[in-house]
Parts: sequence; structure tokens; C-alpha cells
Amino acid sequence: LIKITLMFIIAYLLGSIPSGVWVGKKIYGKDIRQFGSGNSGTTNTFRVLGKTAGTVVLLADVLKGTLAACLPLLFQVPINPMVIGLGAILGHTYPLFAQFKGGKAVATSAGVLLAYNPPFFIYSVCLFLVLLFLTRMVSLSSMISLPLITLSSLFIGDWILTTIAFILTLFIIYRHRENIKRIRNGTESKVPFGLGYKK
Ligand code: G3P
Repeated sequence: LIKITLMFIIAYLLGSIPSGVWVGKKIYGKDIRQFGSGNSGTTNTFRVLGKTAGTVVLLADVLKGTLAACLPLLFQVPINPMVIGLGAILGHTYPLFAQFKGGKAVATSAGVLLAYNPPFFIYSVCLFLVLLFLTRMVSLSSMISLPLITLSSLFIGDWILTTIAFILTLFIIYRHRENIKRIRNGTESKVPFGLGYKK
């Protein structure tokens, strides 16, 4: 139990690394939480700081989840990697190093899935990208893909994956409360590509 607690704490600290905030402040001299949607995640980094910064933050946030999910292997503890991965997701959304104001759990959750089940990760990313192409909203695509991923996981017959995906579905929708309001008002920002996009 000591090892499990320790791994969970390490995962939380890893997740707490506020890549979006740090890249913004240290390299661009901008706190992305004061611009765009005010979120510190990948989408808002792309929106406020551009493609290079967005890609760096995406990779860093995914990697946090992947590394956290690899901890059981490193510590040689037979526990499901996703359970420890939850620590990183928690850190990412409520980061110790950024006044507990973090992202919306999407990228880091994807990172955990990448470590746990790479083929299912690729399937999930494809699903997300199709939705993104159709809706042009990252928030809406995230909120629709999560329940679909949960349902799809039933075909694998991995009840821990299904349970965690279900918990994450609820959590991610909860984290997108402000986005839901904007989607309803028709004010949610859209990505500059996809169905119906005109330059
Ligand atoms: O992953 C976060 C995304 O779904 C929405 O981000 O900045 O549009 O609120 P944002």
C-alpha cells in the first residue's frame, strides 16, 4: 500500500506540471489563463500561442499521463496502470504548481490510455478526430468521444477500462461546464479546419 500511495503521489506531481502555463509564461511571456477560454490546456495554447506551443503542450500533457501509467511497471507493483494514471489526470486538472487551476483532463487521459492499450488509444484518437472534423469544436468532440469510447470499451471486455472511461466521461463533461454554456449560446470557438470551414 505504501508503494501504491507513493506512485499515486508521483503521478499527481507529474500531472501537476502546468505545461501550458509554463510554456506561455516562460517562453511567450503570456499567461494563457488570461486569454481565450482561460483554460490552461492544449486547445487554448493553440488558440493563444499558436501551433508550435500548442504541439509542445499537447505532447507534454499526453506524456504526463503515459509516464504516470508506466509507474506500476517501474515499481513492479501489480496494479492496473490506469488507476495510477488517475493521479496524473487529477494533477493535470488541479495542479499543485498552478493554484489548482488546470486543464480539462482530455490530453492526460489520452496519455494514460496510450500506455495502457495503444491500439485502443489509436482508435479513440481517430474517433475524436472524425468528431473534430465534423463539429470543429474540441470541447464538443471531447464530450462526445468519451461516452463513445466507454461504449466501445465494452467490446474489449475489460471492465476496469470501461469503469475508468465512464468515470472520466462524467468528469470531463463536468470540466466542460463553461464550454457547454458557450455551445448552447453559439459562442464556442471553432478550429480553423473541418466541415464547412471557409478561409
Ligand atoms: O481539452 C480542452 C478542450 O476540450 C476545450 O478547451 O480551451 O476550448 O475550453 P477550451
